[in-house]
Amino acid sequence: MNYSECDIGMVGLGVMGRNLVLNFGDHGFSIVGFDKDKSKVEELNKEAGTRKVFGTSSLAEFIKSLKKPKAVMMLVPAGAPVDSVIEDVLPYLEQGDLIIDGGNSHFTDTNKRFKELSDKGIHFLGVGISGGESGARFGPSMMPGGPEKAYERVKSIFEAAAAKFNNENCVIYLGPGSAGHYVKMVHNGIEYGLMQIISEAYDLMKRGIGLNNQQIQEIFSRWNRGKLQSYLIEITADIFSKKDQDSDYQLIDKILDEAKQKGTGKWTSEEAMEMQVPLPTIDAAVSMRDMSSFKLEREQSSKILYGPDQRIETDYEPFVKQLEDAVYFAMIAAYSQGMTMLKVASKEYNYNLNLKNVAKIWRGGCIIRASLLEIISNAYEKNPNLPNLFIDDVLSKEILNSQDEIRAIIKSAVESGIPVPGLMASLAYFDSYRSEWLPANLVQAQRDYFGAHTYERVDEKGTFHTQWNHV
Ligand code: 6PG
Repeated sequence: MNYSECDIGMVGLGVMGRNLVLNFGDHGFSIVGFDKDKSKVEELNKEAGTRKVFGTSSLAEFIKSLKKPKAVMMLVPAGAPVDSVIEDVLPYLEQGDLIIDGGNSHFTDTNKRFKELSDKGIHFLGVGISGGESGARFGPSMMPGGPEKAYERVKSIFEAAAAKFNNENCVIYLGPGSAGHYVKMVHNGIEYGLMQIISEAYDLMKRGIGLNNQQIQEIFSRWNRGKLQSYLIEITADIFSKKDQDSDYQLIDKILDEAKQKGTGKWTSEEAMEMQVPLPTIDAAVSMRDMSSFKLEREQSSKILYGPDQRIETDYEPFVKQLEDAVYFAMIAAYSQGMTMLKVASKEYNYNLNLKNVAKIWRGGCIIRASLLEIISNAYEKNPNLPNLFIDDVLSKEILNSQDEIRAIIKSAVESGIPVPGLMASLAYFDSYRSEWLPANLVQAQRDYFGAHTYERVDEKGTFHTQWNHV
């Protein structure tokens, strides 16, 4: 079935694009989908059912089916494919039409495209979308950025399709320009941090105290009913119950220990360095994905470089309880780092972000959804200018109440030779953030010694230089 007055068009009918089209269609909107790949178009048409949805591989027909002013959304891989879609559709668009990029584009590309398109009178929205395939189909978290007026045109469609949390939509307009893609980038940075922390907990349970997959599955399930309740803990429990189809093993034991990445976590770390915001937990997560890919070298070095035998002698239950607290501590640290980065970026790029809203739309639909986000959104409700989540009255208690546990867990990990850089970086972030004094005076002195870079004094204003040695 064809419609000539579609509310919105979708370019890119891969799994994400198709699912989002069907989701829009479920809510009564009329949508035309376009893909050069005819099999993807057929798949959409087969699934469309009674929805006002259809696909085509003719760009002319796609454009003709849109009501005016036209709204063209795309869900294609980040980078060159986005530019090529823009290039393809641009000749068919008129002033006042709207292009929406729903992929994981780098925010600097979004800024560039925004400028180029607004010079031509075309509106552009950069929308971060999280939740994977099932999120797209049944309710993602959506992070829209760009001109607010342009967002108003698609607001009702996005609100209908977004995940709901306590009857609130997990989509709120975030800010101008690349605000949406920036927030999505940081979401993914936090995602990397959480995944690393969880995998360290797995390592401590597996190599440290020798638990089997079923025991690990039970622990993650239990954790998911407590303060760690989150999507990532939930799917982790599921992963440990999956059998391999081709052997008698659990699937997890047949998966190679080399993690791939598309790079959004790395972008977060790069951008944080650029803005000089510390993100040690997220940096550690990016580094550990990189370290995982040195598989061959790790295999070789494991035969030469020895250390403790990676066994932790301890009572099972108290250790698992300590570990739960340690994971909780580190998760709070990962969110704190990401939110602090957003606070700085909001000022730097004039996004005017409302961090309470960011936390709110992450409570449902997205990969980092967690019950902790309710506490985080309350923290920003109480104080929109909160400098760091660690000093919120509720979260500071949570952190202080679990610091002995994360210290104990890290001690066990160090003594047994199990690498826990995510947990360590989280604790060091806390210990440095709460340090009135840090040894950076020595760094200043060293810089001045070898490079005459000058230093500041604690007892007098100004910059000083000392002739440290006599040459
Ligand atoms: C999401 C995910 C999604 C995607 C990541 C994976 O929020 O739905 O973050 O965007 O799965 O791009 O990222 P890596 O390939 O870098 O792990």
